[in-house]
Amino acid sequence: MSNQNDQTDRENGGLNGVHAEGERSHNGHAPANGVYENGKGSTPDSQPRAEATFTPAQARYAQIVGWGYHVPSKVITNADLEQIVDTQDEWIRSRTGIEERHVAASPAETSASLGVLAGRKALDMADIHPNKIDLIICATSSPEHIFPSTASIIQDGLGASNAGAFDLSAACSGFVYALSMARGHILAGDAEYVLVIGAETLSRIVDWTDRTTCVLFGDGAGAVLVAASDVPGGIMASVLGSDGSGADLLTVPAGGSAIPASLESVNTGGHFIKMDGRAVFRFATRVMAEATTQVLAKAGLTVQDVDLVIPHQANERIIQNSVLKQLQIPAEKVFINLQKYGNTSTASIPIALCEAIEAGRVKPGDKLVFVGFGAGLTWAACAVEWRTPVEKPEANWWRNTQRQATYQAAAARSMWKRAIRRVYSQVLPTREERWDKNEE
Ligand code: UT7
Repeated sequence: MSNQNDQTDRENGGLNGVHAEGERSHNGHAPANGVYENGKGSTPDSQPRAEATFTPAQARYAQIVGWGYHVPSKVITNADLEQIVDTQDEWIRSRTGIEERHVAASPAETSASLGVLAGRKALDMADIHPNKIDLIICATSSPEHIFPSTASIIQDGLGASNAGAFDLSAACSGFVYALSMARGHILAGDAEYVLVIGAETLSRIVDWTDRTTCVLFGDGAGAVLVAASDVPGGIMASVLGSDGSGADLLTVPAGGSAIPASLESVNTGGHFIKMDGRAVFRFATRVMAEATTQVLAKAGLTVQDVDLVIPHQANERIIQNSVLKQLQIPAEKVFINLQKYGNTSTASIPIALCEAIEAGRVKPGDKLVFVGFGAGLTWAACAVEWRTPVEKPEANWWRNTQRQATYQAAAARSMWKRAIRRVYSQVLPTREERWDKNEE
């Protein structure tokens, strides 16, 4: 196969039908919803563009074509925690399975900066330029701000100048919720590429004096690039659930509109994670099994068809009690890496997916289940038929250089735009001010 063909194959994620870079909406196929190929559709008073064609809707699928993760370098072991709170390595290992976790020690490490690094790796893996991304969804439980969204900051950091961006708040279920949203956008014909990121700096909202929570959580980010494809498979079905009656079981009570930040909210630790661990444990054990069963039925699969379950990495005992015992799925079909990272909330499933791929546990044709639960209470599951080659592609020098240049330029462009805005606001009079002067 020529280099050219190799390149095209990789762009397609190895899937001939995946809409490749440079082909967006010009791949000879009409989007599934039958709109005109320019992606804008046609309104009664607008003429279809000359190049637009209209063909009946055809099957469209959402394939994961890129993946990547990033964790901060600072590691805190259980032994380290013994120095901070009244806990023991033995207690943490036996009750949770966690041995260590990564934490964002540098102020420069934020949910967005981790998300940008994970996102770049996913784009590198798919060999896709950031300006091809239509939408960035960042699922996070530790957003940088109430607003703006962490996704918008990531969009700026990636130089993804054609992407919409929003945060998705469904706590630890967020990544699976976001995958479902990405699938929906793609199947509707609204997007060709959606970057889905789970990004967390939970160490910033953990009470490091509360042994019941601080031993559990870690920081990190994972990302997948979801692409439109006409090859069957990909994200086949999803199940999303919520039971808000359990909202108080796992919460950061203050800092929102219910309990705005105040001296009292800070003094009483209202901005830290509070959890009824036992209640969440019972809930999680039930919904993980139920959601997995439901999503398999929706996808037309049975438990026996499953090659790998990648569950939310909160507690090994939850995974054992639900996936292994209730569903009778053998341990070799379940991926667990929480011993290294703790519970990284929305980032746990994409990080585990990346490590499962690295470990050779995922191959084309495999049926995967992603299943998570979290605050809300929420739960979610996706069934995926994996179709993308998992070998890291040989980097295309030119495309890689273009991507790296875009990342460098993104920071400069962002600074430039901020400077221009400052100049406009300070030097140039506003339209209203000009009107006022004219009236005088
Ligand atoms: O993404 C969703 C996030 N949340 C979760 O997934 C949490 C789900 N729940 C859990 O994973 C478990 O409930 C925990 C790991 C949080 C707790 O395990 P447990 O087996 O349910 O322990 P427990 O809460 O029943 O506590 C047992 C004992 C208590 O002492 P007493 O009252 O029996 O004397 C706790 O005070 O363990 C004590 N304890 C600890 N001891 C040493 C609680 N935390 C610690 C600790 N080190 N870190």
